[in-house]
Amino acid sequence: MPSATMITPARRVQGRLRVPGDKSIAHRYALIAALADGTSQLTNYAPGADCHSTLACLRTLGITIEEDGGASTVSILGRGFDGWRSSEAPLDAGNSGTTMRMMAGLLAAQPFTSVLIGDDSLSRRPMRRVIDPLERMGARIEAVEGHTPLTVHGQKLHGIEYRPEVPSAQVKSAVLLAGLHAEGTTSVAEAVQTRDHTERALATFGYQLTTVGPTTMVVGRQRGRAQRVAIPGDFSSAAFWLVAAAALPGSRVDVEDVGLNPTRTGLLDVLRRFGAHVTVIETAAEAGEPRGTVTVAAAEHGRVVVEPDEVPGLIDELPAIAALAAHHGEVVVRGAAELRVKESDRISALVSGFRALGIEADEFPDGFAIHGRGVPTGGIADALGDHRMAMAFAVASLAARQPSRIEGADAVVISYPGFFETLQQLIA
Ligand code: S3P
Repeated sequence: MPSATMITPARRVQGRLRVPGDKSIAHRYALIAALADGTSQLTNYAPGADCHSTLACLRTLGITIEEDGGASTVSILGRGFDGWRSSEAPLDAGNSGTTMRMMAGLLAAQPFTSVLIGDDSLSRRPMRRVIDPLERMGARIEAVEGHTPLTVHGQKLHGIEYRPEVPSAQVKSAVLLAGLHAEGTTSVAEAVQTRDHTERALATFGYQLTTVGPTTMVVGRQRGRAQRVAIPGDFSSAAFWLVAAAALPGSRVDVEDVGLNPTRTGLLDVLRRFGAHVTVIETAAEAGEPRGTVTVAAAEHGRVVVEPDEVPGLIDELPAIAALAAHHGEVVVRGAAELRVKESDRISALVSGFRALGIEADEFPDGFAIHGRGVPTGGIADALGDHRMAMAFAVASLAARQPSRIEGADAVVISYPGFFETLQQLIA
C-alpha cells in the first residue's frame, strides 16, 4: 500500500540547504562511464530510485559498480563498448523513462539481444519515439503496441539525420548514444532546444561532438575515457523549495551548489514574472555543468502565464509551478501536452489533486490553469504514484487552512528521498 503523509499548514519557509545530486546528469555519467575505458568516480550521485535503476541495469550487463556507505560516491569500472555482456535476465528500468530510452539507444548497437522492462507507469509511456529513429539506424526493436517490454536486437548501425517530432532530451540522447557506435555521422536537429546534459557529458568523457545551431552531430566508433566528476544539486528538486519561498509571504530560501544549466532553469524567469526576488550566484562549472547558489524571497504575488516555447526548459518544474498559485496567485500553462505522458498524466493528476485540496483548477488538453483565490481548505490529494505530484501537493498544502493528506507520498523516493524531512526543517 502506498503511504500517506499529513502536511500541516505553514506561514513561511526559511533556510539554507543543498539538494540531492541531479538525476538527469547522474544517469548520463553512469551510462557514459560504463562505456568508457577505466574507472570513473561520480560524487554526489543522485540518491533516488531512478538513478539506482540505471546502476542495476548496468550491473546486469556485467559492469562492476561500487557505492560508498552513503551511496553518494559511485565508482564504475568501464569496460568500453565491447565489454558489455548480454544478460538472460531482463533489464529493469523501474519507474525511469530516462533509463529505458537511453539504454535502448546504447543496446541498439550491441551485438546481442536485450529485454528492457519497467513498472506499471513506465509500461504506459510511449516508446515509439525512440524505436522509430533507432530502427532507421538499423536496429530491430520489438514492443507491445509501442510500449514495454522492449526487446532490443542490437545490430550494426549507420548514422542518420534526425529531426525529433516531440522535443525530448531522452530521444535526442538515445539517438546520439546510438550514433557513438554507428557507421558514419549521426545528427539530431531540434526544433526547440531540450536539456543538453548528454552533449556536455560526452564532451567531458572525451568524445568529439559538433554543434551547429540547433543540430548536434557525432561521428561513430569513438572511445571515451574514465573521469572523476562531481554532480551538482538537482535544480528540479530545488524547484519545490524555490516555489514555496516565492509563494508563502515572508519566506526566503537559499539553495547552494545546485545545477544551473541554462536548458533547465526556466523556472527562475517564471518566479521573477510572478513577482518573487530571485538571485543567482554562479560559483563554478564542473564537467561543463555550471552550478551555484539560488536565493528566492517572496515579494509580490501575481499571475504568470507559461508560454509553449518555454515548456522544454521547465517541463519537470510544471508541477511545482502549479503550486505557486495555491496562495493567492494564478498560473496558466499551455503547450504542455507532453505532461500527459510523464510518470502520470500530470495535467489530469494536477487538476484533480488541486481541486481535492480546495484550489480552483481548469484542465486543458495541453495544460492547466490554477486560481488561488483566498486560502484553500486543504483536503486529500492522491499523488497517483508520481514523485513530482507528491511534492507539488505538499507545497500547495502549506498554504491551506487545515492539514492535508497526500496519498502515495512515498513516491518521492524516485527523485528526492528525505523530501518530507527537509520540508519540516524549512518550516519557520
Ligand atoms: C529527462 C528529460 C525530460 C524530463 C525527464 C528527464 C532527461 O523528458 O521530463 O524527467 O533526463 O533527459 P523528455 O526528454 O521525454 O521530455
